[in-house]
Amino acid sequence: MINEKYKEIVDFIRSLYKTKDTISLHEPVFRGNEKKYLDECIDSTYVSSVGKFVDLFEQRVAEFTGAKRAISVVNGTSALHAALTLTGVKPGDEVITQSLTFIATCNAISYCGASPVFVDVDLDTMGLSPTSLKLFLEENCEKTNGNVLNKKTGNKISTCVPMHTFGHPARIKEISDICNEWDIPLIEDAAESLGSYVGDAHTGLFGKCGIPNLNAALGCA
Ligand SMILES: Cc1ncc(COP(=O)(O)O)c(C=O)c1O
Repeated sequence: MINEKYKEIVDFIRSLYKTKDTISLHEPVFRGNEKKYLDECIDSTYVSSVGKFVDLFEQRVAEFTGAKRAISVVNGTSALHAALTLTGVKPGDEVITQSLTFIATCNAISYCGASPVFVDVDLDTMGLSPTSLKLFLEENCEKTNGNVLNKKTGNKISTCVPMHTFGHPARIKEISDICNEWDIPLIEDAAESLGSYVGDAHTGLFGKCGIPNLNAALGCA
């Protein structure tokens, strides 16, 4: 039974998939040698953050996505938190993200002591709208001494984090052009888009860092 509040969005998603059936967000599939490797991993005693399988995983994710490097982190939220910290997000800053996303994006922003600024999504991609982003920046922000400031709050806009909703790529090239124009670092929350491409480029490779998630990998473009 769908809560009336969410009916409109669920109907919209079903219309994209052309189905009235339930659409699973994740369906874990266990096949091939997975159990064998799990045994091997347990027998090796390296069941935490290091070991042969962690190295192999990072190497394979980098190969698969085309990223220079991939670093595995305990979960997507931690990977986002690390990426935001690396791009210099500080307490009191504002980070642009989209109004339709998973709570992890906003949690990571608030773990930095920063506040999320919600910009609207495009209806067809469900990802951050470049038109709304441009409008938000032009109407509310100014460049001062190399920083982008929100004129209304006086806070620094330190990063932009679009998200590729349910694996549908946002208009990331346009978003990246706008961020470059304003000198705002771009981090892609690609947690839902491992295996999604824009042309030949894997999502997550358009900004400084991308966060694909299985749970979870941090790939640096
Ligand atoms: C958009 C988005 N960002 C980040 C995450 C990472 O979440 P977690 O910390 O649970 O791995 C997810 C998980 O599904 C997600 O959908």
